[in-house]
Amino acid sequence: MSHIHIAIDGPAGAGKSTVAKVIAQKLNITYIDTGAMYRALTLKIIQSKVKFEDIDRIIEVCKGTSIELDNNRVILDDVDVTEKIREPIVNSNVSLIAKVPEVRKILVEIQRQTAQGKSVVMDGRDIGTYVLPNAPYKFYLTAAISERAQRRYLELKNKGFNIGLKEIEDEIAQRDKIDQERSISPLKPAQDAIIINTTSKTIKQVVEEIIDFIYRG
Ligand code: C5P
Repeated sequence: MSHIHIAIDGPAGAGKSTVAKVIAQKLNITYIDTGAMYRALTLKIIQSKVKFEDIDRIIEVCKGTSIELDNNRVILDDVDVTEKIREPIVNSNVSLIAKVPEVRKILVEIQRQTAQGKSVVMDGRDIGTYVLPNAPYKFYLTAAISERAQRRYLELKNKGFNIGLKEIEDEIAQRDKIDQERSISPLKPAQDAIIINTTSKTIKQVVEEIIDFIYRG
């Protein structure tokens, strides 16, 4: 069989990465978490104390940064930052970095190269619309914001972060707004994407729905 490309997009906390990881495992193909790349760069910008308004410097940092996704680990300039990029400080600033057009250009190029010539499931915000517009399988996962916030709340709580549900819901809403309103490749479903509402569905159900569709199609 020739290689397959599966694009999974959607707002924060819709279950994309969990679902994408299981699908990659089941189909024995590569998983590419594009959000992790924007997160890793954001972490570096924060650590380097570069101001979010200093777009020229952000672009410079981006050009001099190495981000590798290796077996679901995220390596930033040779340092494993897999856990660090999920911290609240990154959550609340990543969309500001991701809306910089030059940053997107650089990271999208890496994403396309990584997908070239192999089977991948890639998740993000603009995979079906922009990164892999010819992907034969496109899914857009969504869920009620209260449920998305609840999922993130439990995730952060398990990691020892004590952040209130309301604060998380506000942060997610703000991030979605910036992602949807940015000038370049904003968050939206591709015209040919299958939309799946994951509210009240288990990971297993969503994975089955997607795999059924792939085998049927
Ligand atoms: O998927 P995740 O929540 O880890 O993504 C973090 C942020 O990275 C998103 O809120 C968005 O601002 C940005 N992102 C993006 N395009 C992608 C993937 C993520 O703009 N393809």
